Amino acid sequence: MSATPAPDNETLPPAAAADAAPVRDDLVIATQDLAKAYVMEGGGVPALCGVSMHVRRGEFVSIMGQSGSGKSTLLHVLGCLHRASGGSYRLDGIEVTDLNDDELSVVRNQKIGFVFQKFNLLPHEDIVENVALPLVYARQPRHERLAAAKRMLQVIGLGDRLHHKPGELSGGQSQRVAIARALVTEPAVILADEPTGNLDSVTGLEIMALFQALHRAGRTIVQVTHDREKAEYGQRIIHLKDGLISEVEVVVSPRRAEQVVSGVEVLA
Ligand SMILES: Nc1ncnc2c1ncn2[C@@H]1O[C@H](COP(=O)(O)OP(=O)(O)O)[C@@H](O)[C@H]1O
Ligand SMILES: [Mg+2]
Repeated sequence: MSATPAPDNETLPPAAAADAAPVRDDLVIATQDLAKAYVMEGGGVPALCGVSMHVRRGEFVSIMGQSGSGKSTLLHVLGCLHRASGGSYRLDGIEVTDLNDDELSVVRNQKIGFVFQKFNLLPHEDIVENVALPLVYARQPRHERLAAAKRMLQVIGLGDRLHHKPGELSGGQSQRVAIARALVTEPAVILADEPTGNLDSVTGLEIMALFQALHRAGRTIVQVTHDREKAEYGQRIIHLKDGLISEVEVVVSPRRAEQVVSGVEVLA
């Protein structure tokens, strides 16, 4: 099988080998012909049908598409939560499709910060414990984990809420805690699946302002959204349709959330 050119690869050299994602230091994410089918009784459900894309280090990219187009599946594969059923995926230089389950968990923990629509915080733990949780897998001593979590909560403006429980926070605060948890391991990329989907529009903009500030501070961010306006806070929009990239758009002048929301303190 020959390598098909990536739809967004106008500046990329050909893949290193047929069906392998390109090897380039400036790419955090590179996929080639990525496929995913869900195994169901009575046959497989194709969700990704050959996605070739890349994300550069320091980029803020949006993935857009209608419900069922494969956005969450793509993000879960990029986040090493799901395995692809075909194709190649290179994450920060590592060919992920070659890894066994244990190696994949290590890579996921080191390289990926995931932000979910529903926050997924542990309700009975303080927020500082929630943020420190990913560092348990990194085998850091407890006092170091808590210190790192505290620092990260200060960065996102919740340094005065360390010992609150998630139920005592607003939706926007909860999502900021989830973002702090995603950042605490210093991952190569933040992946966010409809991060503002459970928030009102003003709070949603605060989250966009936070992402833009993190992006300015050098973080790499990939967000999934079905909302055109939210997508335009990123620098590029990858459009998905029926498990395939239908278009890649450069956002000539991304929206600026901090122009809309004043008083968001973001430092990073
Ligand atoms: N766990 C699953 N089992 C079977 N099919 C699934 C599963 N998750 C998603 N799908 C199917 O895969 C396709 C893509 O879904 P998804 O990635 O969730 O799309 P989106 O996030 O764009 O709404 C849809 O047809 C959906 O029904
Ligand atoms: Mg989805």
